[in-house]
Amino acid sequence: MVTPYKAEPATDFTVEANKQEFQKALEQVKEDFGAERPLVIGGKEVLTDDKTTVINPADKKQELGYVSKAKPEHIEQAFEAAEEAFEAWSTWAAKERADLLLRVSAIIRRRKHEFSALMVYEAGKPWNEADGDTNEAIDFIEYYARSMVDLADGKPTLDREGESNKYFYQPMGVGVTISPWNFPFAIMAGTTLAPVVAGNTVLLKPSGDTPLIAYKLMEVLQEAGLPGGVVNFVPGSSRDIGDYMVDHHKTHFITFTGSKSVGLRITERAAVVHEGQHFLKRTITEMGGKDTIIVDKDADIEVAAESIVHSAFGFSGQKCSACSRAVVHKDVYDEVLARSIELTKELTVGNTVDNTYMGPVVSQKQFDSIKEYIEIGKKEGKLEFGGETDDSTGFFVHPTIISDLDPEATIMQEEIFGPVVGFTKVKDFDEGLKVANNTEYGLTGAVITNTREHWHLACRKFDVGNLYLNRGCTAAVVGYHPFGGFKLSGTDQKTGSPDYLLNFVNQKVVSEMF
Ligand code: NAD
Ligand code: ALA
Repeated sequence: MVTPYKAEPATDFTVEANKQEFQKALEQVKEDFGAERPLVIGGKEVLTDDKTTVINPADKKQELGYVSKAKPEHIEQAFEAAEEAFEAWSTWAAKERADLLLRVSAIIRRRKHEFSALMVYEAGKPWNEADGDTNEAIDFIEYYARSMVDLADGKPTLDREGESNKYFYQPMGVGVTISPWNFPFAIMAGTTLAPVVAGNTVLLKPSGDTPLIAYKLMEVLQEAGLPGGVVNFVPGSSRDIGDYMVDHHKTHFITFTGSKSVGLRITERAAVVHEGQHFLKRTITEMGGKDTIIVDKDADIEVAAESIVHSAFGFSGQKCSACSRAVVHKDVYDEVLARSIELTKELTVGNTVDNTYMGPVVSQKQFDSIKEYIEIGKKEGKLEFGGETDDSTGFFVHPTIISDLDPEATIMQEEIFGPVVGFTKVKDFDEGLKVANNTEYGLTGAVITNTREHWHLACRKFDVGNLYLNRGCTAAVVGYHPFGGFKLSGTDQKTGSPDYLLNFVNQKVVSEMF
C-alpha cells in the first residue's frame, strides 16, 4: 500500500525553533568543507587528479570542496557498469523499485536541512529557496515512485474472441542525465530517479557549479540500498565529456535541463545514429524561458506588483520560470511600475547565510553576462531601480528594473537569467498577448486581470506550457503543476506529471491467440 501523494510542506522560518535548527545545519555542513569527492562508477569510488574546486558564490574565497572530474575513459567504464546493472535492475518489480525510492525520500526528509544548508553555500540560495529545492526533490521522488506503481501493470487494451492482448511498459536501457545548477537538487534528483524507477540505469552529469549536492544524493542512494551501477556519478567538464556522453552508442535517452544553446546542440547530436547503436535516442530537453506577466487595466495593483517583484527577483531571477518581462496596460502602467519599485526597495541582498531575500548569482560567468545585459538595458530603456553590481567578495547583482522598453528590445527578447525585469506599455489586452508571445520561448506566464473573458482568451492564446492567473509565474509544485515549456523552451515532456515516466519506457504489446 502506498499512501496518496502530497507535496512536502515548506519550513516556516519565522518559527524560532526552525530558524535555530537551520542555523545549526549551516554550521554542521561546514564540517565537510574541503573534502575531496570521487566519481562513483558501478558503486565504486574513483578519485581523479583533475578536480573541480567548488566555491561559495557569496564569498568566492571560500572553497567548499574538490570534486573529481570524469574523462572519456571513466564514461566508458560508467557505460559498462550501467549496462551490467541494467540486467538485474530492470527485472525488479515496479513496486520494489518504487519502495526503494520512497526509502530515498524518507532519508532526505529526515535530514532535510542538511541538504538545504549545503545549497545555501554552493548555489547561494536564500533559506526559503533552498528549502523549496529540497522539498521539490522529495516531491519528485515521491511522485515518480507512485507513478511507477500506477504503470506497473500497463494499460487496458481490447481482447477479442479467441485472442488475449496485453499492453505494458518495459525499461529502455542505459541513459544520461545532464542537469543545471539552478535547481541543483530537485531537477538533478528528479531527472535521475524518474528513469531509474522506470527500470533504467543512468550516468549522471551534474552542473560543474553544483556537484556537491549531487554527490550527497549518491550517498543517500547508497544508504538506501540502490545497487551499484544503477546511478553512476560522472561530473566533469562538458568540453571533455558532454558530446561524448550524448554521442555514445549505448545512450538510449538523454534527459537534459539547461540553456537553449546546449539543448539544441544535444538534440541535433542525439539524432545521429552511431556504429553499434540499434535504436533511436530519445531526448528530453527542458530549456530556457523569457517569461511574461501581463497586467490588465482592471488588475489589482498590489497583486500585480507583488507577482512581478517576487517572480523576477526570487533566487535573483535565476529560474527558468522567472518573470523577466512585465507587459502592462497603459491605464495602470505608472501605478504598477511605481509600486513594483517600492516593493523592490524592501528586498535585502547579501550572503544568504544571513537569510537575505537575495543572494549572489551563481558564478563569475553569470555575473559578467548579467552586468552586460544591464548596460544594454540602460541604453534600450530607462533604468528605474538597481543596476548596481559588485564582485569584490561574491557575485552580487542588485534587483534591477528597466522601463519603457520596446517589445523587440534585447532586454525583452533574450534570457538574462538574473535579477533584471523589463517593463513595456501596451494599449489593450490583445496587444499584451501579442507582446507576450513575441519571443522564441514559451515556458511560463501569468495574467493579472479581473476580466474573465481575458483569462479565457489567455488560456487559448498565451503560448506557454505553464500559465497562471492572478499570481506570479514561478513556483510550480510537483503533481499539481506539471512543468515544461513550448516553443524553444523545450520538448514539453512535463516533469511532475502522470505522463513523465512514459519518456523512459518502451511500450510493448503481446497478443495471444487461444
Ligand atoms: P547550461 O546549458 O549551461 O548547462 C546545463 C548542463 O549541461 C550542465 O550540466 C552543463 O555542464 C551541461 N553541458 C554544457 N554543455 C554541454 C554539452 N555540450 N554537452 C552536454 N552537456 C553540456 O545551463 P545552466 O547554466 O546550468 O542552467 C541554466 C539554464 O537552464 C537556463 O537557460 C534555464 O532557463 C534553464 N533551465 C530550464 C528549466 C526547465 O525546466 N525548462 C529548469 C531549470 C533551468
Ligand atoms: N519549477 C520551477 C518553478 O516553477 C522552475 O519556478
